[in-house]
Amino acid sequence: MQSHRNSRKSTGDRTTKRAALAGVVALALLLAACTGPASESPSGPASESTSEPTPSGESSPDGEPPSAPVPPDRELLAAAPADLVIGMAVAGGGHHLDTPLGTGSPLADETYAQLLAANFSSVTPENQLKWEWVHPERDRYDFEVADEIVEFAEANGQVVRGHALLWHSQNPDWLTAEDFSDDELREVLRDHITTVVGRYAGRIAQWDVANEIFGDDARLRTQENPFLARFGIEIVADAFRWAHETDPDALLFLNDYAIESAGPKADLYLALAEELLADGVPLHGMGFQGHLSMQYPKPAGMAENFERFAALGLEVAVTEADVRMSVDGDGAASAGDLAVQADYFRSMVDACLAVETCRSFTVWGMSDAYSWVPFFFAGEGAATLLDEEFGIKRAYTAVAEGLGAGR
Ligand code: XIL
Repeated sequence: MQSHRNSRKSTGDRTTKRAALAGVVALALLLAACTGPASESPSGPASESTSEPTPSGESSPDGEPPSAPVPPDRELLAAAPADLVIGMAVAGGGHHLDTPLGTGSPLADETYAQLLAANFSSVTPENQLKWEWVHPERDRYDFEVADEIVEFAEANGQVVRGHALLWHSQNPDWLTAEDFSDDELREVLRDHITTVVGRYAGRIAQWDVANEIFGDDARLRTQENPFLARFGIEIVADAFRWAHETDPDALLFLNDYAIESAGPKADLYLALAEELLADGVPLHGMGFQGHLSMQYPKPAGMAENFERFAALGLEVAVTEADVRMSVDGDGAASAGDLAVQADYFRSMVDACLAVETCRSFTVWGMSDAYSWVPFFFAGEGAATLLDEEFGIKRAYTAVAEGLGAGR
């Protein structure tokens, strides 16, 4: 995938709006402290929100265009069934290095940290546990930022999904530059998995052990993935065994995109899962990334497809949900498209809730301000639940309503 910079907003523009938002959030917190949160009841319907949208077309006194209200604290959490965690990818690394965020941590931004703490019960480091980040040299691991995220989650009573231990992308150069023997390469992978899983044993609830091992043409990625290239599919079983030996409590997942519906790629995963389980491999779950594009029809039969995996005794998780669409040069989407997006998101929520063992629903980024989509898909964007100012989009409301409808 080619990265391309987005030209939507200047840093200064966004900084001004973020500063304004910080004020809005501070005010909301103050009001909540005085009146008590409107939606704190565990079963309170999502529609109980007390915030009213700013009437469209009006400008605020300082001339800023109107912005939608930010999510009321805990709304999604209160709406969700008690056995479902609602997760979010924590920005940093990857494409964020080409954004105003740079090498900084979004957790240093009080607005971001407050929204993350108040609205989600699970976090996934978006890039900070990937090889290139955590294992920059063969003999050196760097856990500084991952530690910060895990500690943040613990301080806020959130669980952590670890992502990802065996993948073809975002690997450090040394991994392919060095001429390893078979034994050495196996040892490199074993050392990586036992070191990274071991560091967070008992603290990371779920791991994406093998990520995207089948390509779009439903073939094993023997070209792109250095471990599959050398050892074939057998190494996947080893990866699961090493992770399980290191942390027997962590739930271990396969994870991929474009498998939300039954089809050649999803069928391959089903067959692989059956085989791994028959061999006694500690596979516990199937992760459906949920990176949907409105260029394509909404995936059909998602619940039935998820159910095929659940029937094997596996957990099911939606791990990276976003829904991208065509946008104009400023990154803006049409109202009609935003309504269609809401329906795509709602369908993913409904499919998860329809399956008893779907206990984790994660969105890939909280707001369009941080989404990876404009960097990877030319002309597409607006893929997340909140707009660039963290204001509620129809997709957010649809997810809240879907969660509130229960299982
Ligand atoms: C993406 C990140 O969001 C970007 O910041 C990074 O530049 C590239 O990777 N499937 C996955 C995720 O499993 O790890 C990818 O995340 C998105 C697709």
